[in-house]
Amino acid sequence: MKTYLGVDLGTSSIKLSLIDESGKMLAEASESYPIFQEGVFSEQEPIDWWNAFEKGLESLLVDQNRDDIIAMSFSGQMHGLVILDENDKVIRPCILWNDGRSEKEVDYLNNIIGKKQLNQLTGNIAYAGFTAPKLLWLKKVEKFSFSSTKKIMLPKDYLVYRLTGKHVTDYSDASGTLLLDCKNKCWSKQMLSICGISEFQLPILHESNDFIGYINNNFKLRHHLGDVKVIMGAGDNACASIGMGVVKEGEINISLGTSGTIFIPTDNFVEMKENKLHSFVNANGKWHLMGCILTAASARKWWLETVLEDKNYQQDDKEVQNANTDGLFFLPYLSGERSPHNDVNIKGALLGITHKTSKRAISKAIMEGVAFALKDCLEVAKTEGYNFSKATICGGGSQSSSWCQIISDILELDIYVGEGSPSYGAALLAISGSENKSLDLVVENINYIKEYKPDKNNVDFYKKKYERFVKIYPAIKDI
Ligand code: XUL
Repeated sequence: MKTYLGVDLGTSSIKLSLIDESGKMLAEASESYPIFQEGVFSEQEPIDWWNAFEKGLESLLVDQNRDDIIAMSFSGQMHGLVILDENDKVIRPCILWNDGRSEKEVDYLNNIIGKKQLNQLTGNIAYAGFTAPKLLWLKKVEKFSFSSTKKIMLPKDYLVYRLTGKHVTDYSDASGTLLLDCKNKCWSKQMLSICGISEFQLPILHESNDFIGYINNNFKLRHHLGDVKVIMGAGDNACASIGMGVVKEGEINISLGTSGTIFIPTDNFVEMKENKLHSFVNANGKWHLMGCILTAASARKWWLETVLEDKNYQQDDKEVQNANTDGLFFLPYLSGERSPHNDVNIKGALLGITHKTSKRAISKAIMEGVAFALKDCLEVAKTEGYNFSKATICGGGSQSSSWCQIISDILELDIYVGEGSPSYGAALLAISGSENKSLDLVVENINYIKEYKPDKNNVDFYKKKYERFVKIYPAIKDI
């Protein structure tokens, strides 16, 4: 039997999926690592990723035939800045996608260089999580780190580098650096000069299913593997969509992970008028639109685990069904917000509390608030002519049936829950790249396990509630 490995370098853990040629899941494993957060800073140590990868691989393969593995590929949290010196040593911890330290640099890029110019060069504007503003921050604040940087890479590219010695990335992940001309699929020379870097410091660009090389000998011996091919991989949202079978224009995938995203494949590059959604390259060589809210399932985790100190998600899921959230609003801006507000300073908010507000009403308001924030993104997509009647959904949050129903009611979409994940999508990329099969073909047999339809009784209630929700951000942002 031939098997294929997908690895997702996530924000809270690394997940590994082993599948056979038909796409059937054979084994899964995950290993977590710390995230260092203080104020708007958010960092991780690349060595922690690597150690978790090796440990996760061993637990994944306990009962598997290691000689069967043909290829592996990677999905990764996007936008992170990993820098290596001339001896290939990691210079400082990776600055993550949800880090907000580069507010001034974002301001410089969007207002001095100008959104119009950025849009022309890259197809996008600056957001604090993106890599280019982080480079400008480094240049100003950590001059020594900046000047000793020989190689710049994205999180998953660090794993590929350690496995193959190749300094490479793919177009989907490179899109989130704000250094890529997304329309023409090449590094933007002007953006590199604005950031004070050269093309030699950047990875070589590849399609997501390109063969990069074989795993190195040392790794092969340590893990008793054969000659395993390394296939490039993609950003985690592109991989999640592949895992859910969403690769064609006309389809949309929603992800409820630490962040929340709507992912809309497009046949052509879309020039966004106000850049409220990202216009990026997709893992199938085409393009996609994406709205990213920085806090999704992590808001529920904060409420249940940190505040209530209760990990019983199932009980919460059951009890929210009868909770009354009339007049109760939650704004999920616990890490500031990316799409569509682009505001690192905005904070989360809970509005409309009375003596009658129960903990489950707050749980439900959190689910609604995240769904409203996703609707903010979907409304932008509609102004570009992208209308949908159904969507797939994945990520930890999609395990909650109450939340899926709320999303269906608020977004007015039929919602299909699947078992796809970024690591599963990466494993499908490994098949595509090593067996020379198109992505359309490898996602052909993906099925869904549950379906939710908008409940007419709730749709009206939520329509009215959304009209009030959109008034809250402008009202509180200066406070
Ligand atoms: C996408 C984004 C997040 C991370 C999370 O733009 O920043 O979804 O990729 O892993």
